[in-house]
Amino acid sequence: MKALIISMNIAVFASGRGSNLMAILKAIEEGRLKARVVVVISNNSSSGALEIARSKGIDALHISRSQFSSDREYVDKILSELRKRNVELVVLAGYMKKIPAEVVSEYRNRILNIHPALLPSFGGQGMYGINVHKAVIESGVKITGVTVHIVDEEYDHGPIVLQKAVEVKDDDTPETLAERVLKVEHEVYPEAIRLFVEGKVNVFGRKVIIKNEN
Ligand code: GAR
Repeated sequence: MKALIISMNIAVFASGRGSNLMAILKAIEEGRLKARVVVVISNNSSSGALEIARSKGIDALHISRSQFSSDREYVDKILSELRKRNVELVVLAGYMKKIPAEVVSEYRNRILNIHPALLPSFGGQGMYGINVHKAVIESGVKITGVTVHIVDEEYDHGPIVLQKAVEVKDDDTPETLAERVLKVEHEVYPEAIRLFVEGKVNVFGRKVIIKNEN
């Protein structure tokens, strides 16, 4: 009997260096994740993520609101690039712009984001990258972590798929904490995407139930 091959066309949106994109591509290359990254989209023409995509022969697109004269044209461009590649899952990997509501609506429950803290704490507008780790250290919490969630119309708000805790050490700086959290991101994101690709992520309102893997 032929083995059932599950795969999925993924679009990755990223603004920065692209280490999470790299971790996802590595998981695919190693066969841990049955998916294809068919396009990488960035609002930042000099992002590392676009460079990584180009070096791997993946379509790399710079799409920014400032290139268009209206929101409608901007949204149409994003949607047409996703539709023509039959994108089934959108993965935000350090994407610092809000996904337009029309895109959220067309890809309802099919957009994932990774956040470098334990949501609903330390999320929302302005809470990205090193700002998150600064706020975590200033608050005095002893535990932070990584959250993968489904994207809805509000920043860092949609249903939570996976979380993993990371200890905050007494001598941590935002930078040392960011480095430890990032390592965990690189494990957790490919795993969350795998669960999604294998159909194990079930969304019930604000709650996500992961189907038993046995
Ligand atoms: C990651 O730490 C990711 O969690 C964070 O940006 C970094 C991107 O790194 N995302 C956010 O803060 C979103 N609110 P990368 O470009 O190396 O993947």
